[in-house]
Amino acid sequence: MEKEVGDHKKIVYFICLVGALGGLLFGLDQGFIANSLDTVKAIYHLDTKAAEQYSALLATGGVLGALVSGVLARYLGRKKSLIFAGLLFTFGSLVSAWIPPLSILYVCRFFLGFGIGIASFLSPLYLAETAPASIRGSMGTLFQLMITIGIFLISATNVYIASVFPKSPMSLSLMFCVIVLFALLMLLTSFWLPESPRWLVLKGRGDEAAKILQRTVSKQSEIDFEIIEIDKMLLRRGGLLKAVFQKSYLKVLLIGVVLQMFQQLVGINVMIYYAPTIFGYAEMTGTLAKILIPTVNMLFTFPAIYLVEKWGRKKLLYAGAAIMFVSMVAAGLAFQGIGQSTMVPPMLQITLLIALVIYIFGFAFSWGPVAWLICSEIFPLKGRECGLTITTMVNWTFAGLVMRYALSFMEIYGNASIFYLFAAFCVLAILFVAFFIPETRGITLEKLEEKLSG
Ligand code: BGC
Repeated sequence: MEKEVGDHKKIVYFICLVGALGGLLFGLDQGFIANSLDTVKAIYHLDTKAAEQYSALLATGGVLGALVSGVLARYLGRKKSLIFAGLLFTFGSLVSAWIPPLSILYVCRFFLGFGIGIASFLSPLYLAETAPASIRGSMGTLFQLMITIGIFLISATNVYIASVFPKSPMSLSLMFCVIVLFALLMLLTSFWLPESPRWLVLKGRGDEAAKILQRTVSKQSEIDFEIIEIDKMLLRRGGLLKAVFQKSYLKVLLIGVVLQMFQQLVGINVMIYYAPTIFGYAEMTGTLAKILIPTVNMLFTFPAIYLVEKWGRKKLLYAGAAIMFVSMVAAGLAFQGIGQSTMVPPMLQITLLIALVIYIFGFAFSWGPVAWLICSEIFPLKGRECGLTITTMVNWTFAGLVMRYALSFMEIYGNASIFYLFAAFCVLAILFVAFFIPETRGITLEKLEEKLSG
């Protein structure tokens, strides 16, 4: 029996919104650096290298957080693990807001990263397991929307705070307090969330799962159908090890790994972290240079909520990579034109500005949301935590590598080179989508599992 679309109750939207708050904290911590680094450097007397180390600790924490999140999610459950991430965010930012000694500030940054690693694993998983199939794509994109809102919020508030209290401890403290507020929001609202019905069935607690589905799904017949479908999947194979060592599993794992790798190799975090620096190389400074990229990033994530169900995942990935390719080539050409010139021609400045804006637009409605979404959908229930752990770690590992080496790469090979490199990765990404990515739109996770293991 093919059952692709189900009726759902309105509360689902609210549950998913709260479930996606992990993304907001991800964004707040990820976007924190761009407009606070000067303040951090001034207060803690850091040189550029030490400041880079401080920023990169987030990715190290992210990798390790993702590593443990599979175990947490399986044994503690999805909800309690989200609460745990909320606690890490709250304490990490609260202690940082006290402007502690440098070593403690480093530890906090690591734990904030650890929390993000857990949240970037759990939020997409929770959304995929809780939202009905007909709106699973849209609800999954909420995670990315929250990331971009977080990046935008913290970029804007940091610019404002730094302008009111330039380079003072008070300034840094207030910047962290913004994160504390949202961390508390996430922590407190997570207590209200229902547990994921799929995790409950996995734990043999089908009755509780049915009660939760009653809160989200309209018809009893659909609730029974979902439980039977989940049960069927659980009966199909032996334990975790057997599930993981299937050929079909290794295939989806590889798809998830390469997808997350490309999400980073197209260069997004160079723009998120270093756009003000890059604009600076082209002699563009000021508030616009600091706030433009996060604003465009946030605004153009909204269309994804609709398009991901209307066009499907694959079309978005194609369109996004093609747009990013063209804009990266344009940015490369602009930098080649700029060369060593002391006075940058306005025409080239405008080309660069437009190219980066179009690039962010291309990422925001496609690779940003869809990479996380597909990874939360393709794994079979029994091996889902394991698969997501690996793909999330890959995302953070490549994010860390790009962040760490991008500026030095530009220094050694010239500013234009990195944009051409990202353009090349866009082409490879398109080929990868064409040959390997399955379309997952509108299919229940269980039907998808059947399809992908076939
Ligand atoms: C990526 C992050 C990136 C963010 C920007 C996310 O999907 O995983 O690395 O900073 O998008 O919006």
